[in-house]
Amino acid sequence: MKPYRIGVLTSGGDAPGMNAAIRAVVRQSLDLGVDVYGIYRGFQGLVDQDWRPLSSRNCANILQRGGTILNTARCHAFKVKSVRAQAARDLKEAGIDSLVVIGGDGSFTGAHLLGEEHGIPCAGIPGTIDNDLPGTERTLGFDTALNTAIGAIDKIRDTASSHERLFLVEVMGRSSGMIAVHTAIACGAEAVLYPESHVDSYAALVTQLKAGWERGKRSSIVVVAEGDQAGNPYEVGERLRNEYNLDLRVVVLGHIQRGGSPTAIDRIWGSLWGSEAVKRLVAGEKGFYLGAQANELVSIPLSRIHDARPEPPLALTKLVPTLAL
Ligand code: F6P
Repeated sequence: MKPYRIGVLTSGGDAPGMNAAIRAVVRQSLDLGVDVYGIYRGFQGLVDQDWRPLSSRNCANILQRGGTILNTARCHAFKVKSVRAQAARDLKEAGIDSLVVIGGDGSFTGAHLLGEEHGIPCAGIPGTIDNDLPGTERTLGFDTALNTAIGAIDKIRDTASSHERLFLVEVMGRSSGMIAVHTAIACGAEAVLYPESHVDSYAALVTQLKAGWERGKRSSIVVVAEGDQAGNPYEVGERLRNEYNLDLRVVVLGHIQRGGSPTAIDRIWGSLWGSEAVKRLVAGEKGFYLGAQANELVSIPLSRIHDARPEPPLALTKLVPTLAL
């Protein structure tokens, strides 16, 4: 009889901890006597049938490495129904019984559709530095990205206070302020601008900065999420410069937040989720993604990927100005 065969892929923006999850998927599968195939460049690899068997040795020394050994892509072709139908036929022909998809909301949407339309059992592992998936308090890469941003901003703080300057620092999060708000708290930022804010963020920023100047602050750090409504930090900076004649500087942290060696948290959750995804697929569970709630591992139906995204905790957003007193 043909052995049970699992395919694993990473999709969307890479995130530190993805390799830990791949390693766990492979080694847990081998431990259960299950074949495991690596699918390269995300859903593009399904379309191109770019897959090959993975052995335990393929996963040696990857736990501590950022990025993904399977490569990744944002595959627009997979949004087309007929492309998914062909991919499902190819998977069945190759004897791949189920899939582990490591990625964010776009990747989980693809996995959900494969399951709904073609009955392919799929398990999702949250892998995105944005930490913006419904039903889970954490995603792989978020903790590492936060620590990277914090390390960079601590350095910026040194020069900001030496020159008595205002710095606007852009962090990632196209449609999520999770990285921005958590970073702002951890760096003692004077203000934070983020997409989910329900106030006029430019006006709120000016009020906060003025209050700081009145209290004698000579330098300030403002953390700006990529997707903030007030605009990118260059636009916000230009406005502030024109209105208040400030000697400010803008830093865009960019993709350094996506790389680097994963933190302990990202390694541990990657390992746990990788192993659990395999065990559940082999036991017949389908159409789910894993997550964490109150630090416990949970399983969430893939259909919930369309639920409202979590927003930065109010307790933290409110704390930024308080602690910048
Ligand atoms: O989804 C993760 C993320 O890093 C977002 O924070 C960011 O907006 C986006 O990916 C950038 O994507 P790309 O690397 O494709 O430009």
